Amino acid sequence: MLNKIKEHILLVENFEAKSLELVEKFRIDYLGKKGVLNDFFAAFKEVPNTEKKEFGQFVNELKNKAQEKVNQLKENLEQSEENAGSGLDLTMSGESMRLGSRHPLSIVKNEIVEIFARLGFTISEGPEIEDDWHNFSALNLPEEHPARDMQDTFFIQTNPDVLLRTHTSSVQVRYMEKNPAPIRTLSPGRVFRNEAISARAHCIFHQIEGLYIDENVSFADLKQTLLHFAQEFFGKETEIRLRPSYFPFTEPSAEVDISCNICKSKGCNICKYTGWVEILGCGMVDPNVLENCGIDSKKYSGFAFGMGVERITMLKYQIKDLRLFFENDIRFLEQFTKA
Ligand code: PHE
Repeated sequence: MLNKIKEHILLVENFEAKSLELVEKFRIDYLGKKGVLNDFFAAFKEVPNTEKKEFGQFVNELKNKAQEKVNQLKENLEQSEENAGSGLDLTMSGESMRLGSRHPLSIVKNEIVEIFARLGFTISEGPEIEDDWHNFSALNLPEEHPARDMQDTFFIQTNPDVLLRTHTSSVQVRYMEKNPAPIRTLSPGRVFRNEAISARAHCIFHQIEGLYIDENVSFADLKQTLLHFAQEFFGKETEIRLRPSYFPFTEPSAEVDISCNICKSKGCNICKYTGWVEILGCGMVDPNVLENCGIDSKKYSGFAFGMGVERITMLKYQIKDLRLFFENDIRFLEQFTKA
């Protein structure tokens, strides 16, 4: 009988339980009315007197141990349940993070910047709120010049000297004022024009303008640079064609078309069945502009060009409505994954 009790003491000491239900079962098994302990107590009568003392000691030890075990397990389990209730389960696997994607305009801007960076162009930036000098006058557009109407300007105060820049040529004026020739710089940025919003136009859009000034820069340099850009960006087989045009700040001026990369010049609705699509404006910097910005026009000449990032992006990805760039519909934006 004593051995039986000792066995139970060992069992009780080693007992572990993972739930409160199992602890309760253990309690009933040992301490309950029909439990092991009551059986031993009931057997007490039959134990010979000489052994009663020792027997009693062991039964008491078993009782105390069982009671202790129940208390201790209960406490532990209740505590870990509380921890779980606080929402901290460090064993749970984490939620995977959703990665965003780059905006198509940024992808294209970065690509264009990279192409010109390889030719040694640096990046220059300037303010979106401009004064008349940097946006117009320095660029050979004095007050009352009719070409000011080409760019429907937003004035933000009654003072006509405070306006939202209509092109990033203003950044080039600032750059020329601060840096001596030779100059090779690219100015990407947001520009503003008071135009009705449609599938092909917006009152906010993005431009990248380039400026190259050195001794003996010729129109041939301009043409070759733009051909290189067109072939790097749209593919080696791309051809360009220059059409005479007018900008107040360049003379001569031209508009540049590329061979339609969508129909391979066979004719489609993107190129309006001409085989060519316009991508940018350019020209040789007017000597007046160089002088306005403190550059000796006898010694230096240069070329400038400007393109709309939306337009280039629409051509690259065959997007038909420019408004999609500004609506930030995730389903649209997620399609352009190149970092
Ligand atoms: N600034 C002109 C525009 O906004 C683009 C341009 C830049 C044209 C440089 C010629 C030379 O339309």
